[in-house]
Amino acid sequence: MSISRMKVAHTIVLFTACSVASIAWAGDVKGKVTAQQALSLIAKLLVRPTEAIALETPTYVAAIQAFELQEPRFCGVGRSGSELLLDNLKYLLRRQSPKFFYSVPTGHNPSGYSLSEEQRLQIIDLATEHETYVVSDEVYSDIEFGETHRPLKSYDDIEDLIISVGSFSKMLSPGLRVGWIVAKEEIIQKLVQIKQAMDLQASSLTQVVLSLYLKEHSLDDHIAKCKDFYRGRRDVALDALERYFPSEVSWSKPDAGFSLWIELPESISGDVLLKDAVGAGVAIEPGEPFFPTEKHQNFIRLSYSNLETDQIEEGIRRLATVIKDRISNAS
Ligand SMILES: Cc1ncc(COP(=O)(O)O)c(C=O)c1O
Repeated sequence: MSISRMKVAHTIVLFTACSVASIAWAGDVKGKVTAQQALSLIAKLLVRPTEAIALETPTYVAAIQAFELQEPRFCGVGRSGSELLLDNLKYLLRRQSPKFFYSVPTGHNPSGYSLSEEQRLQIIDLATEHETYVVSDEVYSDIEFGETHRPLKSYDDIEDLIISVGSFSKMLSPGLRVGWIVAKEEIIQKLVQIKQAMDLQASSLTQVVLSLYLKEHSLDDHIAKCKDFYRGRRDVALDALERYFPSEVSWSKPDAGFSLWIELPESISGDVLLKDAVGAGVAIEPGEPFFPTEKHQNFIRLSYSNLETDQIEEGIRRLATVIKDRISNAS
């Protein structure tokens, strides 16, 4: 479902009195906060030092950084491929009383997987049963490549425990720094106070730019182009991985998002591989910082969003050579 069609009866997203921009595509939704700032504000509101935050592991590294400032206890909910280990979450909700569960349900960063409808419903049930907020980071939700999923918030019509975060960064331009939070009125009012204390209000200039763009262009047409573009990049990357990578390595098959998550043999660390890869002219991201709790060394993240298709293929070919060398040196 695209944001423009997202029905949230009790949508409240006003960040500071916005005098200028009205975002034409979604009536009562007005963009006032970047997704990154939203994560920071929510943690500031809900979490005090030593209190628990439940979050996927691995997860979006800058969410970990934003939450860390509150000095919380992180409780990791593991994944098995595209599935979240919801028994982990159930256990944590019962035993650790987290202040919220942070999830990237669509185009999970770093793996690119989207949760099934069944898993989404289970998350809503668990949140309701334990009266715990879920911070649902939906920044990739509008650019899913294949089957589309409804945002978590759209299932939450009773308890209002989902705090949904979105932005134009991935579907239009990260430089705009315009996004939104959808949550119940009580939460939004408190977030507004924190945001005002931080920066009074989001830049009107970028909102005007966005507003003009939306008046003159079809966002749906643009999103359709984005989907084709990123789907094409994803396919080239998956094809190259299949052709060049050794059998000891496995990788995610993204449904959305900009990156692939690669599991290396235990003996190869992402940090060490980075040096070899840079030597071969390829940029990779070591995976360790993506783990909020128990750290694992043998993962890397590859981004395919910003490269030409021949660069993706060549980068993966070179990386495969570097990995094969490491494997044969280790044995
Ligand atoms: C999962 C996730 N959430 C939030 C953000 C930040 O979004 P924004 O640029 O709108 O602040 C990113 C950016 O990479 C992301 O991957």
